[in-house]
Amino acid sequence: MKRRKFLKIMGATSIVVAAGGGTAGYFLSEPGVDYPDEPWHTAGSLYQEPRMRALSYAILAPNPHNRQPWLVRLDGQMGITLYCQLDRRLPETDPYDRQIMIGLGCFGELLRMAAAEDGYDARIKWFPAGMPDGKRLNDLPVAQIEFIKGSTPDPLFKQVLNRRSTKEPFDTSRQVDESTLAALKGNDRNIQTANDTQLVAKLRDLTMDAFMVEIETARTYKESIDLMRIGNKAVAANPDGIDLGGGFFSIMKNLGFTTHEKLADPNSIAYKQGIPPFRDIMYSSMAYSWITSSGNTRMDQVKVGAKYLISNLKAAELGLSMHPISQALQEYPEMLALYRELHELMAIKSPGRIQMLARLGYGPQVGFSPRWPLKTRVQS
Ligand SMILES: Cc1cc2nc3c(=O)[nH]c(=O)nc-3n(C[C@H](O)[C@H](O)[C@H](O)COP(=O)(O)O)c2cc1C
Repeated sequence: MKRRKFLKIMGATSIVVAAGGGTAGYFLSEPGVDYPDEPWHTAGSLYQEPRMRALSYAILAPNPHNRQPWLVRLDGQMGITLYCQLDRRLPETDPYDRQIMIGLGCFGELLRMAAAEDGYDARIKWFPAGMPDGKRLNDLPVAQIEFIKGSTPDPLFKQVLNRRSTKEPFDTSRQVDESTLAALKGNDRNIQTANDTQLVAKLRDLTMDAFMVEIETARTYKESIDLMRIGNKAVAANPDGIDLGGGFFSIMKNLGFTTHEKLADPNSIAYKQGIPPFRDIMYSSMAYSWITSSGNTRMDQVKVGAKYLISNLKAAELGLSMHPISQALQEYPEMLALYRELHELMAIKSPGRIQMLARLGYGPQVGFSPRWPLKTRVQS
């Protein structure tokens, strides 16, 4: 039993390294270091002020590499201005800030739901000072929000604390049936799903290939390495990026086995160990969902964020595990062939595109992902 648990921790180690994603739940206690998931435990209870209450939920939104790029300012009696903290973007894997914008869309939708729960209609005006004219976001406000009395609560809000990105192998003996996929999609024509064996097999290969491109492209892999927080203390000091928490990591770090340099070196054991467990993750995907848009404007991306948040909450309600896998959707030259292959496979023609792709199945219950406390995301 102990050995199984140890192997699981080893597995998780490699998985997170390779996946460029974080996994909580392996954070074994260490004296004097608390796992930074306090915002999940205090959401809705730390503040009485309606905007702060709603924001305390919004910061739990899914977002790429858990960068938590949101920064807010409280304005007047009932206003909020939302900014993107520009140094929290991912220029190599997200060169046009598309995924960062989707994450901000998730944040906006969660803020809206939390306000509604409290009796407020959070009216969001995106890009109140105009759309960024270049290919990247700028320091102008991303959104202006006004809380107005009166709202209709959303039943999916109950799932906010149950929602996860499950970066783990799924149970390959459990299929995801048609009725579950139909419930996940609802009436949204931009959300599509697949569970048929042939397509799932192709997507397993394609997503694994895309992952290999990301880690074999030095600059995109380095972007993830730089964001790895190795060991409990590092995770607690910087509760964002890729969480390599856990007693195991702390020990490996102290012994000098797991360092940023070793993880970056393709000849190191730490690097090589990462690939097979990630293969286990990719090849245990039992179904997929993807979200399309007919164009790729900033507003398309905002809407995709709202749809992704809703489908992630719906998955939680259905007891289904969901894990975004974005590599094949990323816009850099080395990925172009796989991007095209994926779009051909799904018969999606430009200017339409896939904005989110997630693997589905039934995985283990994972813990909360780290978050910066709300007060660090509010500007005075
Ligand atoms: C636009 C977007 C892209 C994402 N892409 C990936 C991905 O490629 N791989 C991955 O493991 N997680 C991905 N995620 C999930 C985030 O890593 C996750 O939301 C974040 O680590 C916080 O964890 P949580 O969702 O469990 O709160 C993505 C999330 C968003 C919103």
